[in-house]
Amino acid sequence: MSETIAFKPETLTQVHKIIARYPEGKQKSALLPVLHLAQKEFGGWLAVPIMDYVAEILNIRPIEVYEVATFYSMFNMKPVGKYVLEVCKTGPCMLSGSDDIINHIKETLNIKDGETSADGLFTLKTAECLGACGYAPMMQLGKFYHEHLTKEKVDEILQLCRDGQLALD
Ligand code: FES
Repeated sequence: MSETIAFKPETLTQVHKIIARYPEGKQKSALLPVLHLAQKEFGGWLAVPIMDYVAEILNIRPIEVYEVATFYSMFNMKPVGKYVLEVCKTGPCMLSGSDDIINHIKETLNIKDGETSADGLFTLKTAECLGACGYAPMMQLGKFYHEHLTKEKVDEILQLCRDGQLALD
């Protein structure tokens, strides 16, 4: 195990509880929740040594972790801002104006898709359907969905973030 990478003891307890949900030898099933914990604890993204650490804890090969972590858009493979704006761009959201929302965010923050604002606060990530098509256009911020977005609503959300008033979990 890496000398410098380690979950806090309380997180490690959580990790072992998650692993214990699965039968002996099936600890790979704990990978998704453990990756969520790792991303949260180690700065919001999954560097290779972090993924190697998770592999070691779960006693699986690092490649098995990389495959899963790179598949899901909810895991970040590079440093991100404090607020990751995951804007859905799939059909129903697109028909309801997600392109306008995405462009508004790009212009307001002066970033492209996948980039982080100069102040380090915001990262824009476009996403595929997040299962809230009936509330389009929408985006996910932390654990919460923000729905029926308009440019004005986006501006309000960005300001709440800048003021530290927007909950992420
Ligand atoms: Fe956007 Fe489903 S298409 S949430």
